[in-house]
Amino acid sequence: MKKTIYLLVMLTVIISSCQKKNTIRLGELDLSKIEQGWNTVHINTNLSDSTLSVNGMKYAEGICTHAISEIEIILNKNTTRFTALVGVDDKVAKVNGGSIVFIVKTDGKEVFNSGIMRSNESAKAIDIYLKGVQKIILITSDGGDGTHHDHGNWLEAKFEYTGAIKPSVYYYGGEDKFILTPKVSEIPRINGAKITAARPGNPFLFRVPVTGLKPITVTAENLPSGLVLNEKTGIISGKVSKAGAYIVKLKAKNSKGECIRNLKIVIGNKLALTPPMGWNSWNVWGLSINEDRVKAAADYLESTGLADHGWTYINIDDGWEADARDANGILTYNSKFKDMQKMADYIHSKGLKFGIYTSPGELTCGKFLGSFNYEENDARTWAAWGVDYLKYDWCSYGEKAKNQSLAEYQKPYITMNNALKNVNRDIVYSMCQYGMGNVWKWGSEVGGHLWRTTGDITDTWLSLWSIGFDQQDTLAKYAAPGAWNDPDMLVVGKLGWSNNIRDSRLTTNEQYSHITLWSLLSAPLLIGCDLTQMDEFTLNLLSNDEVIEVNQDVLGKQASPIYTSGDIKILMKELEDGSKAVGLFNLGRDTINVNFDLKLAGFGNKVKLHDVWRQSDKGIYESVYTTRIPRHGCEFLRITKPE
Ligand code: GAL
Repeated sequence: MKKTIYLLVMLTVIISSCQKKNTIRLGELDLSKIEQGWNTVHINTNLSDSTLSVNGMKYAEGICTHAISEIEIILNKNTTRFTALVGVDDKVAKVNGGSIVFIVKTDGKEVFNSGIMRSNESAKAIDIYLKGVQKIILITSDGGDGTHHDHGNWLEAKFEYTGAIKPSVYYYGGEDKFILTPKVSEIPRINGAKITAARPGNPFLFRVPVTGLKPITVTAENLPSGLVLNEKTGIISGKVSKAGAYIVKLKAKNSKGECIRNLKIVIGNKLALTPPMGWNSWNVWGLSINEDRVKAAADYLESTGLADHGWTYINIDDGWEADARDANGILTYNSKFKDMQKMADYIHSKGLKFGIYTSPGELTCGKFLGSFNYEENDARTWAAWGVDYLKYDWCSYGEKAKNQSLAEYQKPYITMNNALKNVNRDIVYSMCQYGMGNVWKWGSEVGGHLWRTTGDITDTWLSLWSIGFDQQDTLAKYAAPGAWNDPDMLVVGKLGWSNNIRDSRLTTNEQYSHITLWSLLSAPLLIGCDLTQMDEFTLNLLSNDEVIEVNQDVLGKQASPIYTSGDIKILMKELEDGSKAVGLFNLGRDTINVNFDLKLAGFGNKVKLHDVWRQSDKGIYESVYTTRIPRHGCEFLRITKPE
């Protein structure tokens, strides 16, 4: 008996010592690889390396992050409590305040939501009992308005736990790459846009995108007078003086067969009747762009076959400009470029088009010379070089604008539009000012063919989610042929914004979601990677003609959400042939079943489903289509009414 009592006492001592309460601070966990909107997580300092501070109160301990960030922590069911104070760091008080919603989720359920917090607001306390909880997620969100100056502090944040296993940060391991795009047929197929436009009397250039076994001969019936087609290269060029809509019957033929398709050429005052498709230097090379890299991009757009799927523009972003204008106020290029006009000719010789970048301010964002007060000069220079596309980036123009009124937002864009209209060349006008003043409502009025709707994208899921899913929801009604909402350039393939390039950090499923979403949104498609180093996966991601077809559809509609619940989001886009393109997305971290109510497509209860990525019919479905979708993945369907 005595022995039993002794054993019981010993057991109690052991158990209670095992359950001794331990404490670990959030800043003691491994936060080194947390993805966030800007900079990296700072421990015990703010993002400027000064003392953490909220509404004048200094804190010696805590972490500072930048929206959007999510810290997922595994608790092993032995963590008992999480406490913290949250608030916007005082660093941003004098800038424009920032706005953050701090959210805590435990095992998928939201257990804390701070509401929108701004600077000059005292920290809010969090105290959560965690018994039995497996995982906790600490979210610093942008409050739905983009991530400008959202420096968010988690102060004195700590976990109490029992036993030996400490809470630890979870980092997702990624997925193997898998290819969905079927192999291209040897029989000719004409791809890409079915409509193109030019202004009367201006140079016209169009490369018929056609896949199949080479050599392929392309012929055309009903070409408007002034245009010629090179049957070997499939490049149509010339000038059409008479306005009108011309239906040209194209035929591509090789030893395996032929393909016939109409191309509508609209000669009038519109351009970019389908979203521009091409390559831009920024996401890969940043300011280290040079002539060899631009030419290599043109070469590879052709040799990889991307041009045969409709990819056309080769656009230089920031970093090409000389340090000063000449005595006549003419801006030229810096020593990284040998001859801009010859380079443009080289690009045009392939039937591709050439784009350039600058700012309405005195300086671009990369501190190169901008066009302020030289708009007419610069438009003439670009026309002489053979520029086909201009990205006009607000950057330092903020110093010139008198206030934040609509008139001031519009002014520099109107000035450049007038300058572009005065040259005898069609220059697609891409407005980049991050969505200020709801640019989607007036971008077209001031001459823009596309306008960035948000800040810069980066290659993380949170950036993709915020820009692509969260901030586009209400913009569909502003998109139309020649007027596109631009959620920024693609972040697949090898990227780097510098000389140091590396693989996109998006997982395989995230990359499929990215391309699917941009296709549905009728977003301009500008590849942002090194084309000379594309792996098979990236090339296939960008070469799926059915995915591109949805993006390039001539109706020019942008998809809108038709269903949102928890982690599921379903977007739908109407297409010219009466069918609907639908993206089923899983925005969550775990694989889930998605039950798609087929009535939402508007064809009644019974529909025909086609898998866009796999380019194959799925068959006829009734009432509900159920599918399993992995973390951050999607399914891309085209839906028709059965005959
Ligand atoms: C940013 C713009 C980027 C890139 C960069 C160049 O303002 O959003 O896309 O053009 O400037 O400095």
